[in-house]
Amino acid sequence: MKAVILVGGLGTRLRPLTCNTPKPMIPLINQPFIEAMLMRLREQGIDEVVLAVQYLADRFRAALGDGEQLGLKLHIVEEPEPRGTAGAVKNVEHLLDGTTFIFNGDVLTDLDLQGMLAFHREQGSKVTISLTPVEDPTQFGLVEMDGEQRVQRFLEKPRPEDITTNLINAGTYIIEPDVFRYVPPNQHYMFERGLFPVVLQTGDAMFGYPSRAYWTDIGKPQTYLEVHHDILVGKANYHIRGAEIAPRVWAQGDVDIHPSALISGPVVIGAGTKIERGARLIGPTVIGAHCSIGSEATIDAAVLWDGNTIGEGASLRSCVLGHNNQIGAKTVVDGGAIISDNCVIGPDNRFDRAIRIWPGTQLGEKAISF
Ligand code: GTP
Repeated sequence: MKAVILVGGLGTRLRPLTCNTPKPMIPLINQPFIEAMLMRLREQGIDEVVLAVQYLADRFRAALGDGEQLGLKLHIVEEPEPRGTAGAVKNVEHLLDGTTFIFNGDVLTDLDLQGMLAFHREQGSKVTISLTPVEDPTQFGLVEMDGEQRVQRFLEKPRPEDITTNLINAGTYIIEPDVFRYVPPNQHYMFERGLFPVVLQTGDAMFGYPSRAYWTDIGKPQTYLEVHHDILVGKANYHIRGAEIAPRVWAQGDVDIHPSALISGPVVIGAGTKIERGARLIGPTVIGAHCSIGSEATIDAAVLWDGNTIGEGASLRSCVLGHNNQIGAKTVVDGGAIISDNCVIGPDNRFDRAIRIWPGTQLGEKAISF
């Protein structure tokens, strides 16, 4: 079974975390998201995947190769320019030869793919769109169906009085490749605003497949933190790598933890990380590889990527740190702040809101307090 994963988006909403790392390569519980996604697809019977890439293709090639290590055949195809979601699949059409799964590359879901495929085949569908319910439908594109689950209408960000359903497009499709004859070649063309409305007009069979499976778009700062929490508290099905060295505390290789440190799970600690005297790690928290957490520092409900050095008595709460930052002693980072990569933040600074610190920022002692 073949699949195409769309990984060409710019990931603007997650900037500055995506300045140096393409969105699908950002870590989820210390593993590149796309790698975990490929493993999940392999487990669900997909053995050949086309990655529709638009920039930093070499990063994908270096990390994933030809997919052999993950047990599948992988093609990494770079677009000459952004083609949009449907245009990107049109661009790899020559690699498709039958019923194909299409995935947005920024969605974590434990949708039952075989169940969706069986439904697609039973209905003789040309396009099947996975749907998920949301609490506030005004922020999304809604998909209306009839009693037999045939798609009737697409509603983009409707006004409250126009809302007839809470089901949104969940970013997983099954498509018969002949449908791509409706997509103009070498052009920017989208599924939601281009191909799907055309299929509605032509009358080709297009069905919705609602599901209550776990679903999150990892591409927003708030959901990026939330998805870590959901996995660590067991709401989302995800394989956490490493050894469980204490209840709900995972070490992903050799870690050096001072006996006086307090660790209250769920906490994941990357290989080569050192936790100094009296430091406190409070879950749900993920600390990357080769980090150093200074004495009496507190890390609470935060996500740190690899190579971070946290000073004595610093306090990091509900925040994300990219790669290789240095945080000075007694500095406080809180309230959804994002510090990207290679920043040096001096001692006694204080950020307690959702600010974004760009790569390479250098701040002296007591430079910021808000
Ligand atoms: P934002 O810039 O934060 O909105 O991120 P995004 O561009 O990734 O956003 P969006 O949610 O619209 O994209 C949905 C999926 O389609 C993501 O997995 C993107 O990587 C992918 N995608 C969007 N546009 C393109 C494109 O032009 N080419 C390819 N290959 N993939 C795309």
